[in-house]
Amino acid sequence: MAAKCTVRSPSNIAFIKYWGAKDLDQAIPINPSLSMTLTNCYSRSTVEWVSEDGEHEIQWRTSSGDFEAAPPAFADRVRQHLDFLRRWAKIEGRFRIATENSFPSAAGLASSASGFSALTLATLGAIGRQTSTAEESALARLSGSGSAARSVLGGYVEWPASSSFGALSSRAECYACQVMPAEHWDLRNVIAVVERGAKLISSLDGHRRAQTSPYFHTRQRRLPGRLKAVRRAIETRDFERLGKVIETEAIDLHCVAMTSEPAIFYWSPATLTILEAVRAMRMDGIAAFSTMDAGANVHVICQPEVEGEVAQRLEQLDIELSLIRDCVGPGPVVEDEHLF
Ligand code: DP6
Repeated sequence: MAAKCTVRSPSNIAFIKYWGAKDLDQAIPINPSLSMTLTNCYSRSTVEWVSEDGEHEIQWRTSSGDFEAAPPAFADRVRQHLDFLRRWAKIEGRFRIATENSFPSAAGLASSASGFSALTLATLGAIGRQTSTAEESALARLSGSGSAARSVLGGYVEWPASSSFGALSSRAECYACQVMPAEHWDLRNVIAVVERGAKLISSLDGHRRAQTSPYFHTRQRRLPGRLKAVRRAIETRDFERLGKVIETEAIDLHCVAMTSEPAIFYWSPATLTILEAVRAMRMDGIAAFSTMDAGANVHVICQPEVEGEVAQRLEQLDIELSLIRDCVGPGPVVEDEHLF
């Protein structure tokens, strides 16, 4: 039985977003979501299962490159998830974990999705549990980071809504599935990072407030049509169709956030500059569309032939930004080299 396991799991960018929960503790979404799993934005976690009792040890790699005890807010979420997995597996003992991200944490780049996906899969590996992808997705979801349910899979991934599960007799049934593998369509994501710090309002608070917005139900009514259009656009590799829907969907999500009580403004002035620049690119014949998660950073989705031009146009903007060039990817991998 393996006692130590390391998993690298990518982040994902949602084309149709999870925003609002039926049951926030169990991360049961009100609406379905659909995302593209990334490649270069990832978390890597090493988990060691130690048979003696005691506290879990949780380390993370800081910006200086060293491993240190993780800050309390993050360590508490990790500890809760490890306790949950220990109960689920009906085992004793404790865990030692180390984790690192290849990109800024908690800045709207879904570091919780990659982080809790990597943590869940590495823990299952360390305790030697054989699990189906559906189980892995449901277990990752139960970390509280719903989007982690999508990051355990590669390519294009759909996470159905709670209504698909009847009366929710089995919460374990709420898991994500692959719609298409990464090889089906090579899409690129040029991420304009305009804020590297942690966002002030967490996605969890955003889900809590979502239904206070007068636009919440308007967006919900639009989602079935949008989901169908996105699925179809992916199936047929119809970039124009995909792009239009995902840009509208992202703006709608932020309208809901901005009109929640209390209001949440994730955008910064630089966000608007980039949104405008992407529209200008389209006027000049460059097919690129924007989407944003719960943060100020903008994901510019495009096809490989214009990726270079998109990056160049963004770099020329008169604002402070850094770019991460990412693309659709095959999902998590188990690695031989451990972090400790
Ligand atoms: C706007 O509750 O999964 O990114 O754990 O912080 O990533 P984190 O948030 P989660 O909500 C995700 C909100 C979203 C949309 C999405 O990814 O579907």
